[in-house]
Amino acid sequence: MVDERRPARRGGAPSFRTQAIWSTVRKLAATREAQLGRPLSVLDLGGGTGGLAVPLAELGHDITVVDPSPDALAALERRAAESGVAERITARQGDADSLAEVRPDAGFDLVCCHGVLEVVDDPAAALAAVAVALAPDGHLSLLVAGRLAVVLAKALAGDFVQAREALTSTDGRWGRTDPLPRRFDIAQLEALLDGNGFTSEHVHGVRVFSDLVPSGTIDSAADRVALLELEQAVAEHPAYAVLGELGAGIHVLARRA
Ligand SMILES: C[S@@+](CC[C@H](N)C(=O)[O-])C[C@H]1O[C@@H](n2cnc3c(N)ncnc32)[C@H](O)[C@@H]1O
Repeated sequence: MVDERRPARRGGAPSFRTQAIWSTVRKLAATREAQLGRPLSVLDLGGGTGGLAVPLAELGHDITVVDPSPDALAALERRAAESGVAERITARQGDADSLAEVRPDAGFDLVCCHGVLEVVDDPAAALAAVAVALAPDGHLSLLVAGRLAVVLAKALAGDFVQAREALTSTDGRWGRTDPLPRRFDIAQLEALLDGNGFTSEHVHGVRVFSDLVPSGTIDSAADRVALLELEQAVAEHPAYAVLGELGAGIHVLARRA
């Protein structure tokens, strides 16, 4: 039984803003571990400094992090050592295009790809490479930036031209100086997954409210718990799915079709 309130231990403690995603990934990993009768083999593509890899390794899973940034990988290795899980984490410099070299036998039980599809050159090619890297029954945890959240945030800030640009542009960017190369709508993301060998099992918006409320309004631990419970209510009830469209992040659990 997964205790959702229990934070990850030591160096892997997720931040308030990543708690809901961590909760979903941890549940999936626990379910698959029970089904398979062994710890999972996990690929964290673009895993950066190990915000997800380290807590997953602390749960006993074997993690391979592939990331093009040597600095991020060095930070990951330090964090893994501090948390006592260095032996369960393999750090590889690479990107979505080099996945076949990392593990040619296509055997990962779970691939996490969080905050990466927004920045790769070709999201469809990256997803196709992930599908090849997964075991036949493997799962994908995909997190991308949501378009409508930035439309709302820009409009509430009075930046109406940028809000309209984010709403109507093909890539969900609010202008030429937008630092993010692209954002996604849920429908667009599901079509991309369908077209690249995945069946979506669970799609929900995350951080629907967290990124909109000024941090000064979250004064206490009780405020943080209440906001988290509000976010979870949106994520868990199909009737509120329309609010999930406004999430700063869109989180999808998908299976290799
Ligand atoms: C926004 S960070 C997300 C880090 C981590 N996944 C997380 O959720 O905290 C994006 C990461 O993607 C990596 N990245 C950039 N281009 C990539 C590519 N083509 N393939 C894989 N990872 C890439 C970056 O080095 C960076 O670590």
